[in-house]
Amino acid sequence: MTIETIKTVAVLGAGTMGNGIAHVFARAGYSVILRDVEERLLQRGMDTIGKNLDREVKKGKLTDAEKPAVLARLKPVTDMAAIAAADFAVEAVPEKLEIKRAVLTDADRLLRPDVILASNTSSISMTALAAMTKRPERFVGMHFMNPVPMMVLVEVIRALQTGDEAFATTMELAKKLGKTPVAVNDAPGFVSNRVLMPLINEAAYAVMEGVATPEAVDAVMKLGMNHPMGPLELADFIGLDVCVDILNVLLDGLGDPKYRACPLLKKYVSAGWLGRKAGRGFYKYT
Ligand SMILES: NC(=O)c1ccc[n+]([C@@H]2O[C@H](COP(=O)([O-])OP(=O)(O)OC[C@H]3O[C@@H](n4cnc5c(N)ncnc54)[C@H](O)[C@@H]3O)[C@@H](O)[C@H]2O)c1
Repeated sequence: MTIETIKTVAVLGAGTMGNGIAHVFARAGYSVILRDVEERLLQRGMDTIGKNLDREVKKGKLTDAEKPAVLARLKPVTDMAAIAAADFAVEAVPEKLEIKRAVLTDADRLLRPDVILASNTSSISMTALAAMTKRPERFVGMHFMNPVPMMVLVEVIRALQTGDEAFATTMELAKKLGKTPVAVNDAPGFVSNRVLMPLINEAAYAVMEGVATPEAVDAVMKLGMNHPMGPLELADFIGLDVCVDILNVLLDGLGDPKYRACPLLKKYVSAGWLGRKAGRGFYKYT
């Protein structure tokens, strides 16, 4: 598929990332088939999109009149067969290999053979996912950042098998969404998590060893290094369980003990202090 022939996009999964991805495609003028396994999950995703569009209207990024037009371009479905009409597809289902395998196999069977299939995985090998499909040269990583409507970066990841045409089309498509695509080769953690997670891990060690409080570590990084968020605030936002999982992927994939998750991070996860979503992580949230 060339960029001009892409009109309809399938987004698999209407969770945190999927509803954001559907939002940005619909806002950019694409028809979107948004698929999840239950009506209630689709409704939750559509409600989030509605609220986020309202926020964009308030900020003047979108006019009042444009909001219903964006919503009208979104078609929530539970029927997987409906994705057959798509000219491009992105999966954003949970980060579990067996779920990815089932969804990718189904999508591969339903989509036309010329359609590019993209994955938003944060940590699974794109090369391994590509190999699960019969279209490995048209399989690519499209790693959006959370929250998708606000974050400008898309890491476009080339699996070993990804063809030049599919890669170039995906880079172009990210630009059509108003994003800045950055080309990266497939490797554990890609660039984003390969660089970010050791920073978060080291910040956790500094707290564990009593070098400084979480507030002090974050203040140093914000005021001294110009980071908009401190690494521990960011870790709480991402989820400490997710951070530990990604560090394990880096450790496993790269084999270097420098990626071993800090014991304090693991202890917080054991306590259920998973960050913002649990009301407590390095910080307490009310
Ligand atoms: N949350 C983040 O900050 C973030 C950032 C970048 C990438 N990612 C990646 O994005 C992907 C999705 O993460 P998330 O945080 O949105 O997860 P999530 O749990 O919020 O959403 C996943 C959604 O997929 C749905 N789902 C499950 N099986 C499905 C199926 N067979 N077909 C369609 N939908 C199905 C679930 O019901 C759920 O609504 C993961 O691969 C994750 O690694 C997450």
